Amino acid sequence: MKIEILDELPSTLPGDDTHRYRSGAWKPQTVERRAWELPVVGEIPSDLAGVYLRNTENPLHESIQQYHPFDGDAMIHSINFAAGEAVYHNRFVRTPGLLAELEAQRSLWAGCAEPSSVSDRDGCSTHGRMKDAASTDVVVHQGKAVASFWQCGDLHQMDPVSLEADGTVAWPGMPERGISAHTKVDELTGEMLWFSYGIHKPYLQVGSIDATGGVAFQRDVEMAGPRLPHDMAFTENYLIVNDCPLYLEQGAIDSGVYGPRFHADEPTRFGLVPRNGDGTVRWFEAAPTFVLHWINAYEDGNEVILDGFFQRNPSPAVDPAASFEDNVFRYLDMYQLRPEVRRWRFNLDTGRTSEETLSDRVTEFGMINGTYGGRPYRYSYNALPCEGWFGFRGLIKHDVVNGTETVYELPDGVHNSETVMAPREGSQAEDDGYLVTFVSDMNDDSSSCMIFDAADPAAGAIATIGLPERIASGTHATWAPASALS
Ligand SMILES: [Fe+2]
Repeated sequence: MKIEILDELPSTLPGDDTHRYRSGAWKPQTVERRAWELPVVGEIPSDLAGVYLRNTENPLHESIQQYHPFDGDAMIHSINFAAGEAVYHNRFVRTPGLLAELEAQRSLWAGCAEPSSVSDRDGCSTHGRMKDAASTDVVVHQGKAVASFWQCGDLHQMDPVSLEADGTVAWPGMPERGISAHTKVDELTGEMLWFSYGIHKPYLQVGSIDATGGVAFQRDVEMAGPRLPHDMAFTENYLIVNDCPLYLEQGAIDSGVYGPRFHADEPTRFGLVPRNGDGTVRWFEAAPTFVLHWINAYEDGNEVILDGFFQRNPSPAVDPAASFEDNVFRYLDMYQLRPEVRRWRFNLDTGRTSEETLSDRVTEFGMINGTYGGRPYRYSYNALPCEGWFGFRGLIKHDVVNGTETVYELPDGVHNSETVMAPREGSQAEDDGYLVTFVSDMNDDSSSCMIFDAADPAAGAIATIGLPERIASGTHATWAPASALS
């Protein structure tokens, strides 16, 4: 393995940090590297061409009061494949917040588990004073990697392979509070669809940036009050926004606390927003829940079909005997939230919704072959969560047509990332390609990139590529084929 050290950022965290989301599999990195001639067990497919990117919450400082893993600074890990070779990079996203805290050598902003009053300065988010950490999501649009934050912020651009910073995405009329994580790139049109939410009117805005960076459309979506949408979906003709009955009380907003409450007596509402920028938003009601992530959506005659992870227990009971920290982190345990794969059908003729469970197994973080985004599809590749802790321990290929599931479980102490589907060059079928994921092995303190045959992930990895350092767990990832890179 050949390694070039690109930079190292000073961390003020203690070397013996014991916080559960800053130690073990979540221990943050400080060194940025480029690495090539990586050791490979197996063989990197010669028809795997493109880049796998994963964002990471990678803090450099102790929080002011209470660290939450969604607060960490963004570090992107990339591995680029070409002609059977792989090159790895990892870089921080040098947000204004990260630079300010580097200068101050401490945290300046409250995190999502802290009241806004502890912030030294104003910022973003539902309580108004968080740092735009850019550490939630990453997509590739117009040949650039774009990192974003779940509480809205700037869209930070980088070269998708070297991760060199390249400014932010901006356009006339862009919402001042920024854009939420989970922008969606429609690979068939080249558009990047986005949403923005906040505690002030308009509570929800949506829009689209076209393949050349122009504003395709932008509009407000009327909501009864502030909501907390985390993700959205799209079909060929609609954006699908959600109004789940888990949202902030006015009292929580007034006191600067991020404390959502589930309203079990209110429906989940879905809004179908025409992508042509015209027309009325059509609303549909369904059973109350909260959905963190959608899998895909498409149109079928007079129906719009949406698949996602319906939480059976979106508001786990507070345990009065547990610590504040334990109670905050109950929302990170998928075995408490118990998401299941659900399908909603919105009938455009009758205005009625029907819904059914496609799998009651606890899974989340579903990925698809991106060329099927917004169109009829068959396969999702979901993460198998750890119990009692935010992390993954395997992957599941779910056939939404016949209901079968193929499971690949990792050994104890080995944790994968959100696993992308990378169609091979010349791909002929939806699952004709590879599954790519970063893995951290706590048994030998190492990390690797594993590549599976998407047609048969249960057969195990066809290539395991060693990385220079054991990398921290993270959240969202994306795949961009070589043709989509600048
Ligand atoms: Fe997310």
